[in-house]
Amino acid sequence: MKEVDIDDTPTPRGELSLQTVAMPKENNAKGDIFGGWLVSKMDLAAMILASRIAKGRCVTVAINGMAFYTPVQVGSVVSCYTDVLEVGRSSMRINVEVWITHADNFEQVKVTEGEFVFVSLDEKGRTRPVKA
Ligand SMILES: CC(C)(COP(=O)(O)OP(=O)(O)OC[C@H]1O[C@@H](n2cnc3c(N)ncnc32)[C@H](O)[C@@H]1OP(=O)(O)O)[C@@H](O)C(=O)NCCC(=O)NCCS
Repeated sequence: MKEVDIDDTPTPRGELSLQTVAMPKENNAKGDIFGGWLVSKMDLAAMILASRIAKGRCVTVAINGMAFYTPVQVGSVVSCYTDVLEVGRSSMRINVEVWITHADNFEQVKVTEGEFVFVSLDEKGRTRPVKA
């Protein structure tokens, strides 16, 4: 019988929307990166995808279910992966995962994830249907 090679290594879910490096100015006295800095990168990554789907202006209306699994060290490559969960009338639910690549061993580890809700707006700030 032929052996099947099953790779159960966890991998990022969604598309790579944003990539950056955690710099010293983003850390606290213990050398860990601030959670708020990561959330701002996740918000940007989700906005890139939401704006593409809505083909226009989008704003964050909610951030749900954030969880941080492990600290991020300065020098890590930070990658934000986005995945559309649902598209409503004017809203889009987007899951964002953050994975880091350690500078020393190049191992990729998931550090946080959260659900971001964006709303599509017109030029006057009124909600605008996504599937117009
Ligand atoms: C986005 C905004 C225009 C929505 O106004 P609103 O009066 O709640 O509008 P609606 O009730 O029609 O909701 C619009 C959509 O957002 C969704 N929504 C609103 N609040 C939500 C929440 N807390 N969680 C999830 N979805 C939400 C609604 O379900 C609706 O989805 P649908 O159109 O797909 O059915 C308004 O809340 C706003 O301007 N907020 C500030 C956004 C902002 O500036 N963000 C950046 C902060 S720095």
